[in-house]
Amino acid sequence: MRLPVAVVTYLVRRPLVCFRRSLCAANGRPAVGGEPVLVVGSNPGLLRRLGSQVEVRPGFITEEEEAALLKELEPGLKRKRYEFDHWDNAIHGYRETERATWGPACAAVLNRVRSVAFPPDSALLGPVHVLDLDKKGYIKPHVDSVKFCGSTIAGLSLLSDSVMRLVKQDCPDEWLDLLLPQFSLYIMRDEARYQFTHEIFRDEESVFNGQRVPRQRRISVICRNLPS
Ligand code: OGA
Ligand code: MN
Repeated sequence: MRLPVAVVTYLVRRPLVCFRRSLCAANGRPAVGGEPVLVVGSNPGLLRRLGSQVEVRPGFITEEEEAALLKELEPGLKRKRYEFDHWDNAIHGYRETERATWGPACAAVLNRVRSVAFPPDSALLGPVHVLDLDKKGYIKPHVDSVKFCGSTIAGLSLLSDSVMRLVKQDCPDEWLDLLLPQFSLYIMRDEARYQFTHEIFRDEESVFNGQRVPRQRRISVICRNLPS
């Protein structure tokens, strides 16, 4: 099975104007102990409800661990071209690969991801998905394939900060924005994964809680489980 293409089969087409939804609603909570606010949403009730289903863990990997991942991934990625021209794809300006076996440093990072993101007895999708978005690349709203992927999606962000938006499919007024700093891990589970589309903004749209978040080239390393 070639995962990545299958993963994004449920592209939800929404008019571009939706990208311009107002970004004013923060979670209302002040940052505690200087902790950065990484998730904001359309209303406090939604944030409370989805609080345990959406996590962003800043600094999940070190600079050295990012370097180790890049060292393993760059040679293979560089042999591919970024794809821009398929207008109906969910992802624009990307190249991607899958990897099942890793050197010890990267394997340790991925084991850490798996241990925090998935229940111990969860059957995982064997290969890890690696998505390299060009600086001009972006991901349109979609829901990952329910046929191939289970309840949980966990992704590391390398090389760039970015903003991910989740929008409830049957109620587009309900949304969450996630700031995904370089070196962070995000985890999306259950209702957040099944009932909400997710997208990554292009550089020009990349704003979190009123703050501009410049988008550089970004590589994500994504672990998923299998449907139960
Ligand atoms: C995907 C996807 C998010 C990311 O590949 O389906 O949504 O963090 N990727 O790159
Ligand atoms: Mn996806």
